[in-house]
Amino acid sequence: DMMREVLGLKELERKIKKKLPVEDVIVVAGDSDQSPWVKREMGRACVSRIKHSLKGNDIVAVTGGTTLAAVAEMMTPDLKYRDVLFVPARGGLGEDVTNQANTICARMAEKAMGHYRLLHVPDQLSAETYQSIIEEPAIREVLELIKSSTIVIHGIGDAKTMAERRKTPPEEMKKIEQNEAVAEAFGYYFNQHGDVVHKVNTVGIQLEDVRHVPCVIAVAGGASKAKAIQAYIKQANQCILITDEGAAKQLVRDD
Ligand code: G3H
Repeated sequence: DMMREVLGLKELERKIKKKLPVEDVIVVAGDSDQSPWVKREMGRACVSRIKHSLKGNDIVAVTGGTTLAAVAEMMTPDLKYRDVLFVPARGGLGEDVTNQANTICARMAEKAMGHYRLLHVPDQLSAETYQSIIEEPAIREVLELIKSSTIVIHGIGDAKTMAERRKTPPEEMKKIEQNEAVAEAFGYYFNQHGDVVHKVNTVGIQLEDVRHVPCVIAVAGGASKAKAIQAYIKQANQCILITDEGAAKQLVRDD
């Protein structure tokens, strides 16, 4: 860890721990806004943190996004994954297939040589369809597995960027803007104080459930995400943050 000390990454970690209520933080070198390979470095750090937290027959829930896709790419097989089950954290949020939790979950499990289950539910659900779909035995079974996750790994996004990428309908877009959302995670949108101002209706893990998961790892970097990370961490209960220097430098700035 001498190199990380020399690079000032350790110092950034100490400062973040003082300023934000995180259980632990890992800062990797670089800024993923500038250099795409930095996401893979966060992925590498995340993979080793997951291995460190595995107990044996864990259920690992993962969200979507480009950062989580990088985590999946960096996953390596390990005997520890023999009895691990990977599941998507929530149903579709309007992402393209490469950014969907299902896709990333399957990829990560294959790379880990673990097992996975997927959620086959449409993205946009009416209230009645939602009710009947969660009663389907096959869906219910996967939902129960998701709700008993022991590890959750998720991304954090800038609210506007995420809402635009997911082709959010105009009324919802307006709500997100008017309520000054700055962060997004799990399909929940948060203002700068960490209050939920909007939520995408879908099955799977809900924010209340996340609070009871023993190990929650948030992976998000890039200077442009600092505000989002800060807002999300305000309401999170003891999460492990994996970020990059770009975001970390903004996070420790006195404002
Ligand atoms: O769920 C998506 C995340 O909130 C952020 O996505 O990793 O592509 O920035 P990203």
